Amino acid sequence: MHHFEQRNGTLFVEGVSITDLAETYGTPLYVYSTATLKRHFEAFDSAFASMEHLTCYSVKANSNLHVLRLLASLGAGMDIVSGGELYRALLAGVPAEKIVYSGVGKKPEEIRQALSSGILMFNVESMQELIRINDVAREMAKVAKVSFRINPDVDPKTHPYISTGLKKNKFGLNIDLSLEAYALARDLPNVEAVGIDCHIGSQLTSIDPFLEALDKLLLFYDKLKAMNLDIRYLDLGGGLGINYDEEQPPHPKEFGAALTKALGKLPLKLILEPGRVIVGNAGVLVTEVLYTKQSPNKSFVIVDAAMNDLVRPSLYGSFHRVEEVTPQGRPILDVDVVGPICESGDFLAKDRQLPEVQQGERLAVYSAGAYGFTMSSNYNTRPRAAEILVDGEQVIVARRRETYESLVAQEL
Ligand code: LLP
Repeated sequence: MHHFEQRNGTLFVEGVSITDLAETYGTPLYVYSTATLKRHFEAFDSAFASMEHLTCYSVKANSNLHVLRLLASLGAGMDIVSGGELYRALLAGVPAEKIVYSGVGKKPEEIRQALSSGILMFNVESMQELIRINDVAREMAKVAKVSFRINPDVDPKTHPYISTGLKKNKFGLNIDLSLEAYALARDLPNVEAVGIDCHIGSQLTSIDPFLEALDKLLLFYDKLKAMNLDIRYLDLGGGLGINYDEEQPPHPKEFGAALTKALGKLPLKLILEPGRVIVGNAGVLVTEVLYTKQSPNKSFVIVDAAMNDLVRPSLYGSFHRVEEVTPQGRPILDVDVVGPICESGDFLAKDRQLPEVQQGERLAVYSAGAYGFTMSSNYNTRPRAAEILVDGEQVIVARRRETYESLVAQEL
């Protein structure tokens, strides 16, 4: 069942009208559906039911505390990349032993924070990082569990900015040089290498690159066994794509079946770090049309949401479906949907066919639940949008709209 749907001529999220939400809370407004979040998490997690596994939701995709709490209540672990995300995950009630810490640039104080809270493991991306983790753990008289993020040199066939598993990317350790890292870990007293990790990119619409990476990791695993290392975890990262436009990404069920088949009966606990596939299509950004105008060969729809609210179109040229909240059935025009920010790159949709919308109408920008609010900024001193979480008929203000006072508070 789809939880964002037109009912009586207007858009509803579960049991709540988007127009009512916009009138009560203003725009731009992020609106998330609890039922969709639950369905996505459960579909993903159950796809791996035949294996021992832990689904660590990738906090960066949508880090709202209410979203994290909901996912934690469903049994999710979390994949974090900063002390700030660790703080949020713990505050949301995620057990520390279900948290994995990824990222190329962990600071000593962040490593300390993670060790004292007792996270499951660090996904280590360089030899220097390993040495630093060992040093911090020694000061704290602890042993840190680590996996190395292996860069398998696989092309994920996605946007270059979100492709991470190629030799030329900054991520992970080159697969051919990684044995050395494991050997070093074996010799250091305050780290224990327990896993292999990999994340090749985001918004992948085919299973093949995942399987190609997995093949390389399994060969690598055999080499580690020959070194007498006790490897218990295999972390395959996130990256499963979603439908924004006409993509046809594999269903999580197919994805799970392919991976569990390739893994066979290996005595490894699988870790997955899905972000977008859980939250992407569980959220919309609602915006109001401020003005429309025509220039000789273009029509512009100027709305109150901008690149500071949703940067994906400006940054990656990403497509987000835009539709009227309450369709009026007017003729179709070729338009750009643009925001109020003083940059030509400030657009939500380019060269799009939209009905001739009018001032004061509201538009829904779809697939905005992942990397939407989390990548938003205050550029042009624009308060960040409010976030609403709907659960049936219930409306939760998951984040209040920022105010001018809150914007300058750190400067006074
Ligand atoms: N694990 C690691 C180590 C990651 O770096 C990422 C995403 C994930 C998991 C989750 O990937 P997902 O399942 O969401 O694809 N801002 C970009 C996406 C950047 C992804 C960064 N890493 C966008 O808006 O498309």
